[in-house]
Amino acid sequence: MEKIKEDVLILGGGMAGLRAAIAAAEYNPKLSVGLVSKLYPLRSHSVSAEGGTSAVLNPKDSFDLHSYDTIKGSDYLGDQDAIEEFVRLVPEQIYTTDHWGCPWSRNPDGTISQRDFGALSFPRATFAADKTGFHVMQTLFSRAMKYNIHFYNEYFATKLILNGGQLNSVTTIDLRTGNFVVFQGKALIFAMGGAGRLYQFATYAHSVTGDGDGIAYRAGIPLKDMEFIQFHPTGLVPSGILITEAARSEGGYLLNSKKERFMGTYAPHKFETASRDVVSRAIMWEIEAGRGVKGEYGDMEYVYLDMRHIADKLDERLPMITEIAKKFNGIDAHTELVPVHPATHYTMGGIDSNVKTTTSVPGVFVAGENACVSIHGANRLGSNSTNECLALGNVAGIAAAEWAVSHSVPDLDVAQVNDEEKRIWEDMLKRDGGENIAKIREDLRINMDKNVGVFRTADPLRNSLKNIAALKERYEKITIQDKADTFNLELEWAFEVGFMLDLAEIITAGALQRTESRGAHYRRDFPDRDDANFMKHTIATYSKDGPVLTYRPVVVTKWQPTVRSY
Ligand code: FUM
Repeated sequence: MEKIKEDVLILGGGMAGLRAAIAAAEYNPKLSVGLVSKLYPLRSHSVSAEGGTSAVLNPKDSFDLHSYDTIKGSDYLGDQDAIEEFVRLVPEQIYTTDHWGCPWSRNPDGTISQRDFGALSFPRATFAADKTGFHVMQTLFSRAMKYNIHFYNEYFATKLILNGGQLNSVTTIDLRTGNFVVFQGKALIFAMGGAGRLYQFATYAHSVTGDGDGIAYRAGIPLKDMEFIQFHPTGLVPSGILITEAARSEGGYLLNSKKERFMGTYAPHKFETASRDVVSRAIMWEIEAGRGVKGEYGDMEYVYLDMRHIADKLDERLPMITEIAKKFNGIDAHTELVPVHPATHYTMGGIDSNVKTTTSVPGVFVAGENACVSIHGANRLGSNSTNECLALGNVAGIAAAEWAVSHSVPDLDVAQVNDEEKRIWEDMLKRDGGENIAKIREDLRINMDKNVGVFRTADPLRNSLKNIAALKERYEKITIQDKADTFNLELEWAFEVGFMLDLAEIITAGALQRTESRGAHYRRDFPDRDDANFMKHTIATYSKDGPVLTYRPVVVTKWQPTVRSY
């Protein structure tokens, strides 16, 4: 067993993790900062962020407007105190990354350009063409090279060890060697992203398997609002690759099989730039009403994204999606229609946290999609994700560094570490029931797409719980055929699927108990929002018999819930 100690330990090398690492290193250059990631950081899913990141930069815009848009977008489930603080933190991050070399798209006068995005009342999405995540990640990664940051790339975290409720250590497998490596830090930051690959048709990279949520949950750290899963209206059919919302905010239309622009029926003011939950449901209703396109892409029906009338904008403002349509579908978006269907895109829930990024364990912080602050409530606004990674990654990095200067690394809990090592080599690798981990994962995803998707109803949700229970039994009988030490991906999948099964259970249980419709959670059997009973967050705590769900009221400052329409 190898042991590594750092002052500040960060799990996850995406945008929130990198931003946190830089902040911690800048706070006190004498601190050692260790960043542990299952991927090389520039392969993190953050690089796929496309259309933009909201920030109040224009004097005609305001923090109140950004807050209000976010709160309305959240369908009044976002905590308003957190949102008000968050929006104030963002602009500095845009200017900081600008100074670090991020090539934000510019106006002719040289100022940072901002575009409209879904459900915004002011065009406040800053962007780098439609490669925003790629450019911000390149900027952060190059910046991180300046500091005393140790990168542990391709280490897979298996467990958070707490001792008496205090942070002790994190166990990992070094994927390159198969070595079991234990990390200890005075402070720890979770920044491991969302859980979107619980679903089959998703804009997510296949690496986004909810490991951070799963590890925290099993250690006893509660998760919040996991039933709220975002479906982005425009996943490219059949791959699911993101076709940015900016395609619509730049003027693109959605058309049904009759070539009718249908969004006016569902969002008479905002049309295609209504919030994502509204647009995704509209597409699904069009398909259900028989106005979906049955085309050349298998069973999935879809609608069209029409960008022909904005062809002159594509090369400069939307070059990546234009290239994606061409390379993946052979479609020239300047002259042809692009097939799209709602795809899983964001996990609104996550580790229960707040705008200070703390968790229930002292010295353990969380940032980015791994966290549920709650800023996004029941539905995140497009362009409110990468700004959270930057703003709260920075907060988490500083908070962890502050913690690290006044705390020490605890004695290693050798007994628990040994148990985990045994679990890997003597349990996981030696199970021999013949079940195939990839098949369990596929069946889980099919179940989630079918039973816990855009539309939800009690019976399918109950079926989902039964299916997950059966999959958990099969999971106990897996056989990992690959016994190699080096890059044993089958072993990695086995850990990931273990976390995914827990999270699927929490999502489904929360969705079943929330007998209302709010934001991205739409119950056909309870189609209305029920503020009297459900202005509350769902808190899921681990027990060996399954998640225990409790509730906590939403914080309202000055925006009382009203009817939400776009
Ligand atoms: O559509 C998009 O470009 C996605 C942006 C986001 O999720 O914030």
